[in-house]
Amino acid sequence: MKWLCVVSMLSGLAFGPVFAQESSATQGIYAQERDAFVSNLMKQMTLEEKIGQLRLISVGPDNPKEAIREGISKGQIGAIFNTVTRQDIRVMQDQAMQLSRLKIPLFFAYDVVHGQRTVFPISLGLAASFDLEAIALSGRVSAQEASDDGLNMTFSPMVDITRDPRWGRVSEGFGEDTWLVSKIAKVMVDAYQNGDPSKPGSVMASVKHFALYGAVEGGRDYNTVDMSPLRMHQDYLPPYKAAVDAGSGGVMVSLNSINGVPATANPWLLKDLLRDQWGFKGITISDHGAIKELIKHGVAQDARDAVRLAITSGVDMSMSDEYYDQYLPGLVKEGLVAESEIDRACRDVLNTKYDMGLFKDPYNHLGPVGSDPQDTNAESRLHRAEARVIARKTMVLLKNDKQTLPLQKQGTIALIGPMADSQRDIMGSWSAAGVVKQSVTVREGLQNAVKDKASILYAKGANITQDKSIVDYLNEYETAVAFDTRPPQQMIDEAVKIAKQADVVVAVVGEAQGMAHEASSRADITIPQSQRDLIAALKATGKPLVLVLMNGRPLALSWESEQADAMLETWYSGTEGGNAIADVLFGDYNPSGKLPMTFPRSVGQIPIYYNHLNTGRPFGKENPGKYTSRYFDSPNGPLYPFGYGLSYSQFALSDFKLSSPEMARDGKITASVMLKNTGKYNGATVVQLYVQDVTASVSRPIKELRNFKKVTLHAGQEQRVELPITEDDLKFYNASLKWGAEPGKFNVFVGLDSDNLQQQSFTLK
Ligand code: NOJ
Repeated sequence: MKWLCVVSMLSGLAFGPVFAQESSATQGIYAQERDAFVSNLMKQMTLEEKIGQLRLISVGPDNPKEAIREGISKGQIGAIFNTVTRQDIRVMQDQAMQLSRLKIPLFFAYDVVHGQRTVFPISLGLAASFDLEAIALSGRVSAQEASDDGLNMTFSPMVDITRDPRWGRVSEGFGEDTWLVSKIAKVMVDAYQNGDPSKPGSVMASVKHFALYGAVEGGRDYNTVDMSPLRMHQDYLPPYKAAVDAGSGGVMVSLNSINGVPATANPWLLKDLLRDQWGFKGITISDHGAIKELIKHGVAQDARDAVRLAITSGVDMSMSDEYYDQYLPGLVKEGLVAESEIDRACRDVLNTKYDMGLFKDPYNHLGPVGSDPQDTNAESRLHRAEARVIARKTMVLLKNDKQTLPLQKQGTIALIGPMADSQRDIMGSWSAAGVVKQSVTVREGLQNAVKDKASILYAKGANITQDKSIVDYLNEYETAVAFDTRPPQQMIDEAVKIAKQADVVVAVVGEAQGMAHEASSRADITIPQSQRDLIAALKATGKPLVLVLMNGRPLALSWESEQADAMLETWYSGTEGGNAIADVLFGDYNPSGKLPMTFPRSVGQIPIYYNHLNTGRPFGKENPGKYTSRYFDSPNGPLYPFGYGLSYSQFALSDFKLSSPEMARDGKITASVMLKNTGKYNGATVVQLYVQDVTASVSRPIKELRNFKKVTLHAGQEQRVELPITEDDLKFYNASLKWGAEPGKFNVFVGLDSDNLQQQSFTLK
């Protein structure tokens, strides 16, 4: 084959994956060989070919396949995204390997955010499992399926810290807690890359959105971020750093500005911090069209200026942006961009392709001709068992009065609500390679569970919203929301009629998946009025009322929590969502999820997060006082705190103690507590450990999660749970941005959520 001309340069080299946990000597040899290979290749490249490597192109209406073919054959394209079948990918790789002068393979990327063909719960839901093994499994399966579709990279994990539920993209991240999100960042990178992204079954990670995208003003997507250096380093940057430390091969640059400078034009961010301080060696990729957006940001005069700014700031690859191609050659010729900047970026791209194993075998994730699946969407390609096991771990029981749940598999159940039979919504956003028709709705899941033991009556009851302008917004690119044109009262009447015939009412309500997505910020985070009217009518029947919530952000649920006898948060739970929800509703699985984001009482409380600073006038629950930091027109504190989630069983903590009242420098102490399952069901809960530095050189949060353990106990069983604390857990950035622990008193808290805690103290010497 013709591509052998490049590949043959590799013969005789001791190929070794740079990502594997190998000795530094082995990695050194690998890096030397890679450098030699890439340097040799770059010597043969024209300036235009080097610039071609910097272009990541999406196949779509603006970029038809013919145009792409021409670009590939001229060496003007380095990588492709949004192509997800082996057949399509193979054609393009063939074009690169057969038609382009130097036969440099393309790489193929996609947003595999919470699954590829099998869709897992949204990332916020995965975080709610507080189960790192389950999260890792979702990442491994995603990588296997993505690799099996011929992909080399995923634009994931998204590890933006999110404290503002108005932002629709909180659904894509893992919540508000820096420590937890950092742990998950590593877990996901390890799961995707599995030690070597070149191997079949692995893909390279590209962590996003660097940086601070979760802190956009007012939760408005694409907006400004203005943040103190202390908060940035302490709270928002660590998850990206954790992904980089875990070896993420890519970093996607965020769309927002940071303290006035857009990330895409920010050399401090992309060079000083990412490369020099953190030692990142992979590729940086702009977000979609972000380079030309520098003009609207008001930092570039025109497209040419935008290109100059992006490349000199350290953006290696441009995503869906034709301007690198148009302007870089001229900018170099006029001396406005040094050729060394192009070389640097091109080297990053070629190194990445080398790490993907593409120079050794451009078809390493595609396999031989003829091996492509006949049916990309075949059932046999799905991992349904894994999806169901993971999904049920993500559900959070918010309320369960009078033990309304679990339900009995007998009698008559009225299943009502606009989300109850929606295959599209249960998959969540960013599930583009998943097939809607393959997802299990709640209706189907309940029916599968009860078979003929109980009767399930169904009515839609309401539209997701009656606001036509919102429906049109949600349906702009796909008909995602079915709008029932019957009068709302008629739909409610139909629902009430079946509710009256039932023993219990299960209403599946919330937001359409498109309401918790990119470009889906909400000013109002309640359940839309059409569904509230339905809930009120169902409540009036006097039947036990279970609300099954589907949403991608914390909602303000004060009113709903008063109507419902039980409430189960299910997020968007994916391909097997309906079966997993049925498992939980009928008690075949005892809910064990905990909230990874605070649920406010109202939108006016935002931002609200558990690990805030104390202030000089803290609000206290017992003795509020007038001149304290509070709202006078609302109860203070969240409706449901971070870490909260009930079980069908009850768990009690006792005999909390520390192994020592003192910790030596570099030392460790162990917190331990007895956990007892005092209820009548077997089940799991999450024992959480928080730490507070009482007095330090800067104000420290009132508590910060530093450890947790998910423990499964039989009814009546008890177990001592041990949670170590090390000096590292006490470190923070001081006012000079120096990282370290300061001596003095620390409070340690344990509990089953972030609010109801028992306390001990120790001293760091
Ligand atoms: C824009 C989004 O911000 C980013 O998260 C995504 O990876 C790219 N589009 C590619 O789809």
